[in-house]
Amino acid sequence: MTPEQLAVVRESYASLGPDATAMAADFYGRLFAADPSTRALFSDGPEVMAVKFTAELDAIVEAIASFDEFRLRVADLGARHAAYGVQTRHYGAVGEALVASLATHLGDRWDDQLEAAWRRAYNLVAETMMSAQQRVSRRSDAPAERGARSDRSVRPPHG
Ligand code: HEM
Repeated sequence: MTPEQLAVVRESYASLGPDATAMAADFYGRLFAADPSTRALFSDGPEVMAVKFTAELDAIVEAIASFDEFRLRVADLGARHAAYGVQTRHYGAVGEALVASLATHLGDRWDDQLEAAWRRAYNLVAETMMSAQQRVSRRSDAPAERGARSDRSVRPPHG
């Protein structure tokens, strides 16, 4: 990710202002439509999740400039996601839902360059989360999703 891409991700995210929560609520709607199996993983409603998600996205966008801070924060988030029953196959649908919601909410400001920058940023976050999830799964005897959330986990044939 280039410094220019980092700058446009931060600026565009900041420019959403209070609309970031609406963008995130839109994101959950799109995610559940694209991959209905993800809905069962969430216990909080989209409004509550939208607030948590944007607060975290805010912190990640800030932390991304400092590699160590970014890696620790996002690896931690990934490890928690293992316990939520999140699978690596979910990351694609989440990325697409996020990009589509950002495009809608950034309106005229959205262009190819901004899309490329956001995709790079999301892939960086997703890859860091997924490798932390894999470390957690390898450490435990049982599959990660057999934790507190086994009642809500959706089990794919693999992944
Ligand atoms: C950019 C990537 C992501 C970010 C920033 C993010 C952020 C968050 C945050 C802040 C929470 C609140 C709990 C916590 O902090 O541990 C959370 C929970 C959760 N996330 Fe994510 N997430 C991401 C990717 C994903 C993906 C790919 C999935 C797959 C469907 C997912 C599913 C969930 C679920 C199921 C919960 C638990 C909700 C509940 O307890 O009701 N997240 N996420």
